[in-house]
Amino acid sequence: MTDGLEDVVAAETVLSDVDGLAGRLIVRGQPLEALAGHSTYAQVLSLLWDGFFPALPADLSLPLGEARQRVYALTERELPLLADRPVYDGMRALIARLPDETDLDSALLLAAAPAVLLPALPRLRAGAAPIAPDAALGHATDMLRMATGVVPRPEAAAALDTYLVTVADHGLNASTFAARVIASTQAGLNSAVLGALGALKGALHGGAPGPVLDMLDAIGAPSNAESWIDAELARGGRLMGFGHRIYRVRDPRADALKAALGRIHKVGAVNADRMALADAVETTALAALRRHKPDRQLDTNVEFYTALLLEALGFPRDAFTAVFAAGRVGGWIAHAKEAGQGRLIRPKSRYVGPMPRKAA
Ligand code: ACO
Repeated sequence: MTDGLEDVVAAETVLSDVDGLAGRLIVRGQPLEALAGHSTYAQVLSLLWDGFFPALPADLSLPLGEARQRVYALTERELPLLADRPVYDGMRALIARLPDETDLDSALLLAAAPAVLLPALPRLRAGAAPIAPDAALGHATDMLRMATGVVPRPEAAAALDTYLVTVADHGLNASTFAARVIASTQAGLNSAVLGALGALKGALHGGAPGPVLDMLDAIGAPSNAESWIDAELARGGRLMGFGHRIYRVRDPRADALKAALGRIHKVGAVNADRMALADAVETTALAALRRHKPDRQLDTNVEFYTALLLEALGFPRDAFTAVFAAGRVGGWIAHAKEAGQGRLIRPKSRYVGPMPRKAA
């Protein structure tokens, strides 16, 4: 059996392709580099959802904005009840209250929901009132405005857009696979998104960026990087933000996010000491991983720069995985629509347990 289904082809998709040897991600025929930093999240939703919904509007920016407003209206009363829960869990509980259909309206509500809920829950926790969405603003601009209370600088909104676009779809990752399995049973889109949210939460998938910052905090200064990393590897720990099942070279999404970080660094939005520490940790970690696992080719993954970018944009650390979900939800919905058109996904297992005793 293939451990972890490594190298098993479990679906055909028109949505995205990850070439782990070339370090290349293609989304509906376009390389990531042509989308990240050039397209808005709403534009990438149109790209991903094209052909899966009848009469899909060419421009989804306003429909997505109106969906943010509807999510807010549908969840406003219950938001305070979930403010003491971890952001991700509170967000998931409120998403469960949305419709479980397969039409465009339901898809838009689900795509809009994380962007509304993940800023509102930490505000309530801090004793501040949540901020209602503004349908006329771009998705990333409004999300940052709801999180911080002020309309963000265009550079910050562009950096968040780059992030959301960069993580919108990525082949048959664990959460997308979960969404496809659920959709193949003809369950609704909400069911698929909730299942995917469960898969994304783990530290080996979308839960790593918060721990990346914990690691940087624990290292503290560039001069401590080598000894801390060596000790961590010696005790069998994993360095968060490094390694990937598919990529055997650098994850191209890490470069897209590093470029976005560089752009907001230029306008003074990134702490220079943080950047210097991150540079030192990345260089030291890559060298240490090469010594530690010479045959595995462990490189920087998307989560390392995600952590730095989302911190610089002002999101609380425990909301990072929810911000990841705000991007990936567009891909989950597209995959759920695609898998919902296919056969029930029902593989086999090999039984290795005891057999019943033969009657005497
Ligand atoms: N630090 C130290 N050792 C590592 C790391 C790491 N970051 N990643 C892999 N290894 C080691 C493993 O311990 C394992 O060693 P072993 O063969 O002696 O047991 C070997 O490399 C292979 O690791 P696997 O777990 O088999 O690799 P897999 O492809 O299953 O895992 C994963 C990929 C989960 C991302 C892994 O690299 C990891 O745990 N990284 C740290 C967490 C992380 O950054 N997660 C975010 C991933 S990106 C995303 O999902 C969006």
